[in-house]
Amino acid sequence: MNEVKAFPTLSETQSEAVVIPVEAYVSPEYARAERDKLWRKTWLQAGRLEDIPNVGDYITYDILDDSVLIVRTTPDEVKAYRNVCTHRGRRLVDTPEGMRNARGNARKFVCGFHAWTFDIDGSASGIRHKEDWGVGLCSEVTRLGEVNLDTWAGFLWINLDKDAEPLRDYLEPAASALEPFQLQNMRPRWRCWTKFNCNWKVALEAFNETYHVAGTHPEFNAFGDFTGWGRQQGRHSHIGYDAPKGLEANKAKLRLGAGDPRISTAQMQKYTWEGVNTNTTQTLVDVAQTLPDVLPEGTPAAEVSKYWLDTARKIDADRGVFWPEVDAETAGKSGTAWQIFPNQQIGHAVNNMLCYQARPCGYDPDQCYFEVAVYELYPEGEAPETEWAYADPSDFPHVLKQDFSNMAAVQQGMKMDGYRGNIPNPKSEGAVISLHRNLANYMGTGFPVALEEPK
Ligand code: FES
Ligand SMILES: [Fe+2]
Repeated sequence: MNEVKAFPTLSETQSEAVVIPVEAYVSPEYARAERDKLWRKTWLQAGRLEDIPNVGDYITYDILDDSVLIVRTTPDEVKAYRNVCTHRGRRLVDTPEGMRNARGNARKFVCGFHAWTFDIDGSASGIRHKEDWGVGLCSEVTRLGEVNLDTWAGFLWINLDKDAEPLRDYLEPAASALEPFQLQNMRPRWRCWTKFNCNWKVALEAFNETYHVAGTHPEFNAFGDFTGWGRQQGRHSHIGYDAPKGLEANKAKLRLGAGDPRISTAQMQKYTWEGVNTNTTQTLVDVAQTLPDVLPEGTPAAEVSKYWLDTARKIDADRGVFWPEVDAETAGKSGTAWQIFPNQQIGHAVNNMLCYQARPCGYDPDQCYFEVAVYELYPEGEAPETEWAYADPSDFPHVLKQDFSNMAAVQQGMKMDGYRGNIPNPKSEGAVISLHRNLANYMGTGFPVALEEPK
């Protein structure tokens, strides 16, 4: 196994300029090697606790050849098993055609081949003609194999490596930076999955930097030029914006735009809600629309921001939705989104979160699954029931479609003869560089190399 080395965390250091070889995106050998060196070695976000509230509730999570069955075994305990029958290897729980994963409630799982039956504690409780095997067929042989499982922020995480380090250690410093946002209290408002003709890293990297905004979402330029940063934090990374002048105390996530802050806030919120259907909430959008009427012209940006957020916080509290208190310094330092190695991004805020995840689709480096999950805070007991829905890329909100339009073109472009490799912006695309430094650490190949002046 590779010796995976640690990178420094909680540093504000900017990456040096590098070239990233395209191997990690396009090589079939690399894609094949990821199974053993990456997907079977890392903690993977496999679902949400609220998906399995009752004893017997289960979901599955598939990653290449591996499938994990996650079951609530008692009111306080969740377990993960290898989703394979111990008799002759049939997958135990099938994913229904067209679904992202299986989900249901069961007290027993019955194999579709010879009907071996497993209890939710993993033991094989029903084996026809068991006596035929003799004493060798003990419970250790027949019980479902267990997989590491732990929870954090309301997410279920699995790790196929029996020697995995504890989840919390793995997630640091992201876990501590995100703790104040109490993400475990959020529930999905909508969640869709789709397929792209590109590598899973191309899909993720369309969202882990803000450098593309001016080029991919040109209408956003009307709101001003926002300078983004992306920084490696050990195995993970995060992105954010430089605070606007005079608004250093503003929450990093909420931007007011250029010009009259009352009007630009109203416009940006409307654009975000209609164009992305995330990164804000109905309450914030509604209050933003009132700003030009309730605040006098010339109100300084900091006051507009304060009125807007205080009012929205109060309206939400009155309906039983309580935003956690996160001081400006903590919010600013945490940035707008964390990239959890290897394949999840959590765009966090005090009242909503936007998660992206990408997974390989078989061993073709040109294919991946991509998932978008949008969460919010709800009054107790009022969260909607949602399920993962397949959506064609053309059916997503229009700002996301703009992002999606680059996926296959990037994948194809990188294969061009003589293409030198990717040269991300060291400041605003630092999360891209971080991903490849960490990937190279696990994969033993593909290290970014310093971009040097030609001799
Ligand atoms: S493979 Fe499952 S019962 Fe035979
Ligand atoms: Fe984008």
